[in-house]
Amino acid sequence: MPGIIVVGSQWGDEGKGKVVDVFSAQSDLVVRYQGGANAGHTLKVDGKETILHLVPSGVLHENTTCIIGAGVVLDVVTVAEEIRALKANGLLKNPNQLLISDSCTVIMDYHKHLDRSREVAMGNEKIGTTGKGIGPAYEDRASRKAVLFGDLFNKDKLITKVEASIKEKNFLLENMYGQEPLKIDQVIQSAISAAKELEVYRCNDTSLVIDKALREKKKVLFEGAQGTLLDLLHGTYPYVTSSSTIAGSACIGSGVGPGRMNKVVGITKAYTTRVGSGPFPTELNDEIGDTLQKKGHEFGATTGRRRRCGWLDLVALKYAIRINGITSIALMKIDVLSGLDEIQVCTAYELDGQVIYEFPVSPGDVERVKPIYQSFMGWQEDISAAKEYESLPENLRKYVRFISDSLKTPVDVVSVGPGRDQTLWLKPLFETYE
Ligand code: GDP
Ligand code: IMO
Ligand code: MG
Repeated sequence: MPGIIVVGSQWGDEGKGKVVDVFSAQSDLVVRYQGGANAGHTLKVDGKETILHLVPSGVLHENTTCIIGAGVVLDVVTVAEEIRALKANGLLKNPNQLLISDSCTVIMDYHKHLDRSREVAMGNEKIGTTGKGIGPAYEDRASRKAVLFGDLFNKDKLITKVEASIKEKNFLLENMYGQEPLKIDQVIQSAISAAKELEVYRCNDTSLVIDKALREKKKVLFEGAQGTLLDLLHGTYPYVTSSSTIAGSACIGSGVGPGRMNKVVGITKAYTTRVGSGPFPTELNDEIGDTLQKKGHEFGATTGRRRRCGWLDLVALKYAIRINGITSIALMKIDVLSGLDEIQVCTAYELDGQVIYEFPVSPGDVERVKPIYQSFMGWQEDISAAKEYESLPENLRKYVRFISDSLKTPVDVVSVGPGRDQTLWLKPLFETYE
């Protein structure tokens, strides 16, 4: 019963979409379990790019069933658009390829309006959210006011729920943020018309489907969104998202017990990026930062914002390995480092004159740390066409060995470009279960 969790080990955008697409060739089910359309997962096959926000990244494989689990906050308008675009490209031909849990929280228009109004009101203190309504939607779930996907197919119940909710939302929009109130008919109508398009994918209980697959020894991938340091509880709070992004969330968001999981793959960029506000100890506000940004095409796949760039941070990664229980690493975008004379890796922090090796979690501490670096010689070769790990430059392999040894975790996959075929396997994905 191989259950494999794919989780981002940094601040998101590590390359989860690419890895899930590659792994999906060998998987029966791919499950999204948290987050929403704040995610932007990029897949590149034969030069063609597909960006997915809500549909799981297994969708390019006809024989893989994609599931949107209960923990996801579902923007029905966005997912309907995404499905239309996939169909226009000859994909998702069979409706059985996608199942959406009746228990997903629906993102309503008022969530997006509130998210954006709050960010404007916060000025310089803003979180830098994606504006997709994620925080307000999860708030409704926690305060037991959420509209669930299944509610969209019962108009009377939907009206009662939205009437109760919109009063409070409009009060805030008008009185706190000076916005126009939203009209209930419009809010309901846009949700209902999107839901009509999605009805064929409706599934009463997706956790039953996953359980059956695991019992039949099928291969199930759990696709995380965002990254460890954006986790609501364990990330750089308050500069985080509103869901639990760590591996444990795969169980909660899809309704599968922890004992069913076999492996946690930590998707890790060979350097670090972050979008939005918040502390970033190894950030480079210099020419090298610009080089990484340009060479790595580091622009947000959801908002188009420029991603902040910096060196790899092993202190933060050690924390990610621990709190996710990461059993192997997929090291991404190492091709972006080609051409640099020197590569730095953060191995410790200095905090108030003390050298520390653990990621600090007390409020405000990450903001104050200074990174301590170890330097590595770079390599000049273009590695984007490499087919075997052994053929890569010696200095690159030294860098990878250092990462793996420092984190006491094997690097099983090295990615040398965005394409599906630019993936080097150091160890087969499912070997231990066959
Ligand atoms: P995700 O959110 O974790 O799925 O990552 P994104 O899709 O937001 O961002 C990763 C970006 O890097 C995308 O544009 C990918 O096409 C690209 N990418 C993934 N792996 C590699 C790689 O090994 N090398 C390069 N150069 N680009 C990659
Ligand atoms: P993927 O799945 C990178 C960031 C936002 C902001 C913070 C809160 O593509 O890796 P939110 O809209 O969630 O309330 O914003 O979280 N953020 C991401 N950063 N990748 C993502 O997803 C992100 N999803 C949210 O930039 O700083
Ligand atoms: Mg992304």
